[in-house]
Amino acid sequence: MTNNTSLLFSPLRIRGVELPNRIAMSPMSMYSCKDGLATEWHIVHLGSRAIGGAGLIMAECTAISPDGRIGPGDLGLWSDAHVEALKPVTAFISEQGSVPAIQISHAGRKGGRYIPWISRAPIPEAEWGHLIAPSALAFEEGWQVPRAVSEDEITQLIKLFASAAERAVEAGFRVVEIHAAHGYLLHQFLSPISNKRSDGYGGSLEARARFPREVVRAVRASIPQNIPVFVRLSMRDWLDGGISPEDAVRTAALLAKDGVDLIDCSSGAIAPGESINLSPGYHAAYSSLVRAGADLKTGVVGLITEAEQAEAILQDGAADLIIIGRKLLREPYWPRRAADALREQNANVIPVQYARSVSVPGKLTQW
Ligand SMILES: Cc1cc2nc3c(=O)[nH]c(=O)nc-3n(C[C@H](O)[C@H](O)[C@H](O)COP(=O)(O)O)c2cc1C
Repeated sequence: MTNNTSLLFSPLRIRGVELPNRIAMSPMSMYSCKDGLATEWHIVHLGSRAIGGAGLIMAECTAISPDGRIGPGDLGLWSDAHVEALKPVTAFISEQGSVPAIQISHAGRKGGRYIPWISRAPIPEAEWGHLIAPSALAFEEGWQVPRAVSEDEITQLIKLFASAAERAVEAGFRVVEIHAAHGYLLHQFLSPISNKRSDGYGGSLEARARFPREVVRAVRASIPQNIPVFVRLSMRDWLDGGISPEDAVRTAALLAKDGVDLIDCSSGAIAPGESINLSPGYHAAYSSLVRAGADLKTGVVGLITEAEQAEAILQDGAADLIIIGRKLLREPYWPRRAADALREQNANVIPVQYARSVSVPGKLTQW
């Protein structure tokens, strides 16, 4: 029995998984792997946010194949060695009472980047290999022109997504998120800006959504029924001729039919030149639209930094889950501060080992 008064610190059940609260850590690439293998960095980095009390900890975008990486430092899930390297990460997160989640992805035409703090230039094709995409269109001038994938390759890619999801569950993750946003391969198929195909995978919204939907169905079929599937969608491209919020809601409704449990509402990054209206919690309005227009739950990410702001989004019925990125990088213990701000008595965001950090007037803390 809980006595929570806030929605932020109420549990959220999705399929067989119960999140202890509605605070999720957003997937954020750390570019800290070699050959896609998780390291001690991932245990400490993700583990700190679990100690900090976030109910769901989403590991960064994780490539389904070596050529699906954004760059050489990305996490991967294309072999059993990757599963073994991730097991201590998920075990630690679970021990803290948080739910370990992972985002699986293929970078498509946005692959072949150096680690950002080393260089922002593309890695030469001779070194990285040829990129793939729905159509032979570079992300931007000076970037490699990708090769348009064949239908046979699409079939192979679907299998790779399904195997990565299966491995994720084997590694101990209890939520699988499919990355269909931020200009990566699945978003490249969804957006009319990057998808100029004339076969069954291009043209109408339904045809552009076909590959992401096939991926979702294959992932759903490859993992147990009690494991939720999330999809991160770009709710708009912020470019003329790109995805509009109405398109994204229609896509979400299609994905709901395929067994997606939650749409993680984000936006942008399909091509340069976007004009984005940034403001605190700027995706909440789109999340509201998805909640009204599709039969699934939503999460919202983007410039959510304050407890009262997060609580208001939930109270307004705009989303089911608050997803936080940079603020949690700066402040791993943000959930604890949020619990104080909302005067939560039962937030359960302090691990037992830190229980004595909460001062009780008149009581000494020496031992
Ligand atoms: C260092 C860094 C790495 C990121 N990597 C990913 C990623 O792997 N997958 C993804 O979907 N978004 C990624 N993002 C975007 C964040 O998940 C989030 O959507 C974005 O930062 C906006 O939320 P915020 O305002 O709470 O930071 C990254 C952002 C940062 C700052």
